[in-house]
Amino acid sequence: MSPLPDADQHLHLQAPEQTEWWRHAVIYQIYPRSFADADGDGMGDLPGITSRLDHLAELGVDAVWISPFYRSPQKDAGYDVADYRDIDPLFGTLEDADALIAEAHRLGIRVVVDLVPNHTSDQHGWFRAALAAGPGSPERDRYMFREGKGPGGDQPPNDWESIFGGAAWTRVREREDAPGSAWAEDGQWYLHLFDTSQPDLNWENPEVRGEFDSILRFWLDRGVDGFRVDVAHGMVKAEGLPDWSGHVEMVAGTEETPGGDAARPPGDNPGMPPYFDQDGVHEIYRHWRTILDEYEGQRILVAEAWVDPLERLARYVRSDEMHQAFNFAFLTQPWEASALRATIAESYAVNDSVDAPTTWVLSNHDVVRHASRLGFAEGAASGPNKGIGPQDPQPDRELGLRRARAASLLMLGLPGSAYLYQGDELALPEHTTLPAESREDPTFHRTGGEERGRDGCRVPIPWEAGTPAYGFSPTGESWLPQPDDWDAYAVSSQRGDAGSTLELHRQALRLRREYGLGTASLADEPQLAGAGGVLALVSSDPAGERPDVLLLTITGTEPVELPAGWSVVLSSAADAAAGSSSGTDGVVVPADTTVWAVRG
Ligand code: NOJ
Repeated sequence: MSPLPDADQHLHLQAPEQTEWWRHAVIYQIYPRSFADADGDGMGDLPGITSRLDHLAELGVDAVWISPFYRSPQKDAGYDVADYRDIDPLFGTLEDADALIAEAHRLGIRVVVDLVPNHTSDQHGWFRAALAAGPGSPERDRYMFREGKGPGGDQPPNDWESIFGGAAWTRVREREDAPGSAWAEDGQWYLHLFDTSQPDLNWENPEVRGEFDSILRFWLDRGVDGFRVDVAHGMVKAEGLPDWSGHVEMVAGTEETPGGDAARPPGDNPGMPPYFDQDGVHEIYRHWRTILDEYEGQRILVAEAWVDPLERLARYVRSDEMHQAFNFAFLTQPWEASALRATIAESYAVNDSVDAPTTWVLSNHDVVRHASRLGFAEGAASGPNKGIGPQDPQPDRELGLRRARAASLLMLGLPGSAYLYQGDELALPEHTTLPAESREDPTFHRTGGEERGRDGCRVPIPWEAGTPAYGFSPTGESWLPQPDDWDAYAVSSQRGDAGSTLELHRQALRLRREYGLGTASLADEPQLAGAGGVLALVSSDPAGERPDVLLLTITGTEPVELPAGWSVVLSSAADAAAGSSSGTDGVVVPADTTVWAVRG
């Protein structure tokens, strides 16, 4: 065993006693609409998921996170919940959910479900009651109803904009269901940070808090192992709901605040809007943690919080709050070694300071799949959430594939927990040419198509080559059209093919476990540290019982020679040279490749 490199080269020192499952788990995100359809209606469902869990057991994941399957009008693909204690008929029944949880547990796979506490659907019983009860009622106080500004209250209460485009406020009497209703003349406005159909809850209201305690218990009692918390940074808004847009430029463009403190952007995190990352959210998570801790089996909370800077994100995973927070800073980095290293180093610095794991992720149902995102030689033209349409520059599929394999292998080598999005294990690309009429994402419609939206990463995944809908559904139906050249990506095409991305993932998960990479310490490899286009990190077992593993990623265009004394055990490159495990020195690692190597 080699001695550890100098202390200043350390990115992460692992405390040996921290072995809880969620600190190092590989968790697979299932998007129920698009995983597997058992009843043939073209929409994935819970029995479909249960029938395909063996694929995940074979892959070697520790847990699944399942995006929302609750009763919902599906205006935002289930992130608009009408009943948190029931299953949408599209997906099945509560019995189907019980069966899924039981089968996953039988296979040794934990189950994390999605919780959407920032908003409900406008078809939720509470919101229907709020509309009917009128201004000033206790029913309205569960949501964010306000009077408008200006003569007749005709202007929205503030200048906030919806994340999906357009205003974040809708006037009650302008709703589609207003004509002829009790609220036909009602002049109040309600807040929705997302679609009009997703009214924000009022987290100052104790009834709202009590209801979510009860929802947590409902699912914990059914045996789930945790919750991915949607918009975890959004529930509490800055006092007085102050305007924001005037501050945007200032925050983005200057370091100084002209006008001194009086002009300081409102809210607890001046770099973010006053509806995100307010300090008040933490009290909610501290309380939820006490509920989860009453249950056996290390149940977890995972924050979906797009929060800058990383120190602020680390506050969500303090030891009495949530367990994990997705590291979106990593996801949004360009394919550039020094940028990746800087983010990795900073992530460990902030998370280590609160004794939390770092939670890596490269793709999910909200961003362009990384097999396509990384397929732009000069970097993607638009942000990861904006989508790609037929009229946009198209990614280079080969480049994207190489880099996606390399990025995934880097991620899976890093200490901490890692999330795979369904299809990542196949290096599935984005559907970048979806016709406008197929698109369902509200961002596409609310921006008049300017943002292409997120449908391209949500297309049903291919299981069997050469069959209708690639085996996604028995009838060949598919709620979004699949590209016609996906045979090669299908599970059936990749299973058993040693060079395939699926087998690469299976090997990676097996070796990650064998070498304890998820609970390792991490340091720069001294010989290559600082070399351009090269990320070279040494993963070492804090107990010194397992061999060191070199994680070497080449983002530059030039191949790099593997330092002496290391032998490749796994390579993301399809070519034999770098994939060889012959153990000879002088192995050259090509561009856009990650290898794992052991000493010896
Ligand atoms: C984040 C979810 O991941 C996304 O899909 C959804 O549209 C928004 N939150 C609103 O719930």
